Amino acid sequence: MRVNGIPYRTVWLEGSTVHLIDQRRLPARFEILELPTVQQTAEAIRTMTVRGAGAIGVAAGFAMAQAALLAPASGVREALEQAAAIIRATRPTAQNLFYAVQRIVDGTRSAHSVDEIRRRAVVIAQRMADEDAASGERIGIVGASLIRDGASVMTHCNAGWLAFADWGTALAPIYVAHRAGKRVSVIVNETRPRGQGAKLTAWELGQEGVSHTLIPDTAAGYAMAQKLVDLIIVGADRIAANGDVANKIGTYALAVLAQAHQIPFYVAAPTTTIDAACPEGSKIPIEERSADEVVWTSGVTDDGAETRVRTAPEHTPARNWAFDVTPAALIRGLITDRGMIRPEPQAIAEVMTAAATR
Ligand code: MRU
Repeated sequence: MRVNGIPYRTVWLEGSTVHLIDQRRLPARFEILELPTVQQTAEAIRTMTVRGAGAIGVAAGFAMAQAALLAPASGVREALEQAAAIIRATRPTAQNLFYAVQRIVDGTRSAHSVDEIRRRAVVIAQRMADEDAASGERIGIVGASLIRDGASVMTHCNAGWLAFADWGTALAPIYVAHRAGKRVSVIVNETRPRGQGAKLTAWELGQEGVSHTLIPDTAAGYAMAQKLVDLIIVGADRIAANGDVANKIGTYALAVLAQAHQIPFYVAAPTTTIDAACPEGSKIPIEERSADEVVWTSGVTDDGAETRVRTAPEHTPARNWAFDVTPAALIRGLITDRGMIRPEPQAIAEVMTAAATR
């Protein structure tokens, strides 16, 4: 996608340096960070400098490639093992991160020389980034058929191109519909506590010229009751084998509201987000982040200075679950790179079998 007319991916590798858009600074500043070491790339994932299931998967792949490129020839395999452990410990919920690390571990196992390990790690990491971008575009094409001319679509958090290498998932159908000339408007939930809707989705949609309105998360039910929402599309961080979906905190409440108001509720995700080994949503590890993110908020002052303020009394106890689980029964369909899938065990198993032959 383009920023000020220039095409960008969210994360990329140049030589052995990972480059990424610093998502902590948006929308105030658009800045590219250069990360020369595995440790720095892993730290960028942990601190959500890069975030979103697909983007952290792509960053994880490039971090593994960095490990292979930077290690001394005598210690490349050990460096890959260490990097895998460091990267897996950054964030627990998004399946794409674990998928990416494992694919490089598996893909380099049978290499017979150091050069071959390095070559394969880079090739696989780049291939995963390209596949991630291509999946987003396919999801966009599959999902755009759900969007009629004049539709109002609600989304939550940021499952746009910033959350992937390119295109995104929940926003991809909106981009495809918009480019095809359909009039589409988006209701953007703010997404407390970190505000990915307000800070990232609103910025992305603005860059693409898509009409959108920001609402507080607490207004979602009222917007539905007022018949302002035709369709809800959200992303996913991990999809269990039975179709339950872990996504940004607040998604579950939206799905319950959608059912009460008979509004179709869709989840858009690449098949790399499906964890076939996880039988149901209750088994998905849910990240709990620092309570500071609930008690403090950040933004820019009128004169453009980035700042942070406390919004609750000092020492107020708080909980900060980053994700929740939406039961499959509340989901109308999974919009994937392999077409629309019913959120049911058999349909998911079939698509995973097909994906295994990719
Ligand atoms: O905590 P984040 O910002 O990395 O959360 C991930 C997400 O962006 C959302 O949960 C999104 O809806 C699915 S991932 C594209």
